[in-house]
Amino acid sequence: MTSARHDGDTWDLASSVGATATMAAAARAIATREDSSLFSDRFAEPLVQAVGVDLLAKLATGETASGALVGQIWIDAAKIRGKFYDEFFLSAGLPQAVILASGLDSRAYRLPWPAGTVVYEVDQPPVVEFKAATLAELGAEPTADRRAVAIDLRDDWPAALRAAGFDPARPTAWSAEGLLGYLPPEAQDRLLDTITELSAPGSRVATENRPNPRPGDEDKTKERLDRISEQWRGEGFDTDMTRLRYFGERNEAEPYLAGLGWAMEGTTVRDLFAANGLPPLQDDDLRMGDLRYISGVLG
Ligand SMILES: C[S@@+](CC[C@H](N)C(=O)[O-])C[C@H]1O[C@@H](n2cnc3c(N)ncnc32)[C@H](O)[C@@H]1O
Repeated sequence: MTSARHDGDTWDLASSVGATATMAAAARAIATREDSSLFSDRFAEPLVQAVGVDLLAKLATGETASGALVGQIWIDAAKIRGKFYDEFFLSAGLPQAVILASGLDSRAYRLPWPAGTVVYEVDQPPVVEFKAATLAELGAEPTADRRAVAIDLRDDWPAALRAAGFDPARPTAWSAEGLLGYLPPEAQDRLLDTITELSAPGSRVATENRPNPRPGDEDKTKERLDRISEQWRGEGFDTDMTRLRYFGERNEAEPYLAGLGWAMEGTTVRDLFAANGLPPLQDDDLRMGDLRYISGVLG
C-alpha cells in the first residue's frame, strides 16, 4: 500500500510519486497510438514497458484496452498537455531549458532544439538514471546537450543545477509539468521564487494553475481519486493517488508568478479541448476543465 507523503520521502518510477510519471507516460503512449496528429511521443511506450509495472506496460502497448480504466478525458488531456509543453519549448527558442520533475519526459530526445541548446532534466536520482539508461539501451540520442540533475527538489537543487553547468545570466525556458500538486504549498512558493531568482530577463516559464478548491471540492476529488485507485489496485497496480498529492489552500501559480514579475498568460483545459477539436469534457468532477496551462516571460 502507498504510504503517506513525508519530508525526505524517495521513490523510483514504480512507486509513490514516481509511479505518477509512469502513469503520465502511459497516457502519452495511448494518446500517441490513438491519434498522433496533435501530439506524439514515440519513446513513451518503450519507457513504460521498461519500468515493468505490468498493468501500465499493457496499457501503454495496447495489450490491455484503456476502456474504463483510463477514461478518454485522460487520453485527450495528455494530448493537449504534451502539445502545450512541446510548443512552449520550441517557441521559446532559448539557449537553456530546465525540465523540472522530468519523469519519463522525452523532450530532450525528440524535440528539434536549436543548435547549442542545453537541456537540464531534474528529478529524483532513480528516475533520471533509469530514463537515461533505458533510452541509451534503445539507441536514442539526445537532440540537445542534455544534462541530468539527479536531486530532490526539496534539497539544494539550484546548487546541483549550477554544478551541471547552468548559467543564471542566460535566459532560460523552465517547465514544471505535473509537479506542483506533489509539493506542499510552501514548497511550491519556494520553487517559483527560486526559478525567478535563477532567471535572467527574457526567461520563460510554463506550468499549470489549479484553481483553489470551492467548499466540498476536495472531498469530491478525494472520493474520486480513491475510486480510481481502488480500480487500479483491483487490476494489480498498487497506488493511492489521494495520498500522493498535497491538498489544502495554496497560492495559485499564475497570480503568484505575476507577482514575481512574470507577464503571464494561460488557457483552461476546457478551452484547449475546444481549440483542438476534442469533445467537451463531461463528468468533470475533478474540475480538470478549470486547470489552466500557463506560461510567462520575465520582464
Ligand atoms: C506526474 S509526474 C510528471 C512527470 C513529467 N513532468 C510528466 O509530465 O510526464 C511527477 C514527477 O514529479 C517528480 N517529483 C515530484 N516531487 C519531486 C521532488 N520533491 N523532487 C524531485 N522530483 C519530484 C516525480 O519524480 C515525477 O517524475
